[in-house]
Amino acid sequence: MEEQKVHFNIPPFHPKAFGYMEDAVARQKICGDGFYTGKCTEWMKARTKAAGALLTTSCTHALELAALLSGIGPGDEVIMPSYTFVSTADAFVLRGAEAVFVDIRKDTMNLDETLIEDAVTSRTKAIAAVHYAGVSCEMDKICQIAEKYQLKVIEDAAQAMMCTYHGRLLGTSGITAVTASMKRKITVWEKAAQFF
Ligand SMILES: Cc1ncc(COP(=O)(O)O)c(C=O)c1O
Repeated sequence: MEEQKVHFNIPPFHPKAFGYMEDAVARQKICGDGFYTGKCTEWMKARTKAAGALLTTSCTHALELAALLSGIGPGDEVIMPSYTFVSTADAFVLRGAEAVFVDIRKDTMNLDETLIEDAVTSRTKAIAAVHYAGVSCEMDKICQIAEKYQLKVIEDAAQAMMCTYHGRLLGTSGITAVTASMKRKITVWEKAAQFF
């Protein structure tokens, strides 16, 4: 069998990407909401079948938008895994909410779905599910609990773009924040180059 190498922290970069960057400059719009933003948004919507897609400059920003859209504010509590990137918590703490950390599972490093219900209080407004390293949280169980207590589900899919759970793309169960960058599975450029 041919040896497969998984390069750690070496971002894949498609040679066509340079051409698109030149083209963006030639179109005289290199800030957001330009020609390529439109293309990427269309691709994202078609691929995920999500009702809407909005490109942000980072997952941190996407999480902050998710917190705003959820109407999270002072006095609210948001349940999240005790092991995650700081932006997951910051997004809600910046709105005045309290981050309620729930322990993770040893096997997946994700939120332990069996511990979530004990952390729910009358102030809980949302569950932030982080899909660590492309491995899905138990979304069926999480959505069940959310429905029972009328909570919002916010998926932090920073590390799980285009990964699936029971055939469903991660990030399509709740309000979603997704990103792709050098640290993660794919880069934006690679995805863009595949599409155009
Ligand atoms: C789980 C998780 N959430 C959010 C982020 C923030 O993403 P960004 O660096 O695009 O702001 C990261 C970054 O590593 C992450 O791993």
